Amino acid sequence: MSSNNTELGDRDGDLSLKRMGALAGALAHEIKNPLSTMNISLQLLMEDLETKPQIASSQVLPRIRLVCDEIRHLERILGSFLEIARAPILDLKDRDPNGLIQETLAFLAPECALKKVDIRNHCDGAIGAVEFDPDLFRQALLNLVRNALQAMEQGGTLTVITRSLDAAWEVEVIDTGKGIAPNVQERVFDPFFTTRKGGTGIGLAVTRSVIERHGGSIKLQSAQGLGTRFTLHLPRKVAQRAKP
Ligand SMILES: Nc1ncnc2c1ncn2[C@@H]1O[C@H](COP(=O)(O)OP(=O)(O)OP(=O)(O)O)[C@@H](O)[C@H]1O
Ligand SMILES: [Mg+2]
Repeated sequence: MSSNNTELGDRDGDLSLKRMGALAGALAHEIKNPLSTMNISLQLLMEDLETKPQIASSQVLPRIRLVCDEIRHLERILGSFLEIARAPILDLKDRDPNGLIQETLAFLAPECALKKVDIRNHCDGAIGAVEFDPDLFRQALLNLVRNALQAMEQGGTLTVITRSLDAAWEVEVIDTGKGIAPNVQERVFDPFFTTRKGGTGIGLAVTRSVIERHGGSIKLQSAQGLGTRFTLHLPRKVAQRAKP
């Protein structure tokens, strides 16, 4: 009896969390619209003021520009928040992930060549068909690879390794970039944590959420000046409780 109550309690808790997520998503959406109207109105106001010589040479335009920049920043944050709040349900397929990984790397090859980054790919052919959501997994992988490329501004090597384990499979994404300081490593998965100018700090939060929703885990090892390794550990079959 008591275990049933706990189960019911969990389910209720889950539901209210879902409801909160939906509410927060709706709120973010509602805030985005007036922000965009404010941005457009300010742009028009700037255009009007630019024609008035006295105002054009004063501090008025730079101040309006600053407000526009802040509005754009808020719009980006809300956009990223919506990406997490509207996390789609898993669309699980039985597929060999090696093919998808190779396709994703081939898609990024021109960008890597431009950045003088060599790609190495070691696929374990023993993985075979495993259960995962290909679109979400591609997104999770892209976020890791993009971060790796951004960390190798002077070029380097991007290595992607897959490994078959008994009831699991693993993917490692390794770069020879600038690495992550130990005190920063604790925070990189936090939503909106970023050290990059123009970054929103959402990539790793989304990647971790995707992997954990598959019942998997993500691990980070990094040494400053040497590089960074992210290891994704995923079950071959997504457990019932992790399924939507
Ligand atoms: N491979 C890496 N090498 C060095 N630092 C990294 C690496 N991956 C992540 N980081 C650090 O973790 C922070 C958070 O990464 P995350 O992908 O979540 O956000 P972002 O790249 O800053 O912005 P976004 O991905 O939303 O555009 C980065 O700003 C960077 O400091
Ligand atoms: Mg990123």
